[in-house]
Amino acid sequence: MLITFEGIDGCGKSTQAALLAERLRKEHIEVLLLREPGGTELSEQVRSILLNKEFTRPLAAEAELLLFAASRAQLVHDVILPALSRMDIVILDRFTDSTVAYQGFGRGIPLSHISHINALAASELEPDLTFLLDIPLELALKRRKDTKNDRIESESEIFYAHVLQGYMYQANLHSDRINVINGEDSIEEIHNNIWRLVEYERGNDIFNAHHVE
Ligand code: TMP
Repeated sequence: MLITFEGIDGCGKSTQAALLAERLRKEHIEVLLLREPGGTELSEQVRSILLNKEFTRPLAAEAELLLFAASRAQLVHDVILPALSRMDIVILDRFTDSTVAYQGFGRGIPLSHISHINALAASELEPDLTFLLDIPLELALKRRKDTKNDRIESESEIFYAHVLQGYMYQANLHSDRINVINGEDSIEEIHNNIWRLVEYERGNDIFNAHHVE
C-alpha cells in the first residue's frame, strides 16, 4: 500500500508521516518511510541541486520539473516498486501531487505536461491513500519564519497561494484517495484522524500486509 503526505511547506506533514510510520511499526507492519525528492544516491544529489539557493540564475521551471521527475524515477525504480512487491507499506512524504501543485499551479507549467511526466516518472503508480494537511498560508509562513528557508521555501506568497489552489483542485479531482486533514488541530488529534483512516483503508488488506515476527 502506498500512502502519501502532501501540503505546503510548514503544514506539519513530515511529523505526521513519521508518527504514522512509528505506529505501524508498533503493530509489527513492515514500513518504509521516504521523502521526495530523495531516497536514493541520485535522488539525494538532485535534491541538493533543487533546494540550493545559491544559483546565480533562476532555475527554468521546465528544468526544475524534470529534475523532480528524475529524482522520482530513480526512487520508484530502485526502492518503491520493490518494496510494494514485498507487500510493505510505503509512506511517502510528497509525491506526484506536489508536482501538480508546485510546478503546475505554482510555476504555471500546463497540467497536461505535468501529468505525462508524472506518469512516466512514477511508472504509472498512484497512491492508495493521500493525506493533504491543510493550513492557511499565513500560518505556514509564520511557522517557517524562524527556519532557514531553502530555494523553494523562499518563493513569494503569491506562488504559495497558487500551490494551495493546486492542492485544493486535486483534492476535488481525486476525492476517492485524497483526504483533506485540518492541519490546525493538535499533532495528536491529526495523528488519530489519520490512523482511523489508515485502519479503515487497510481493512482486509491488513491480512495481506507483511508481518514481522
Ligand atoms: P520538503 O521540504 O517537503 O522536503 O520538500 C522539498 C521542496 O520541494 C518543497 O518546497 C516542495 C518542493 N517540491 C516540488 O516543488 N515539486 C515536487 O514534485 C516535490 C516532490 C517537491
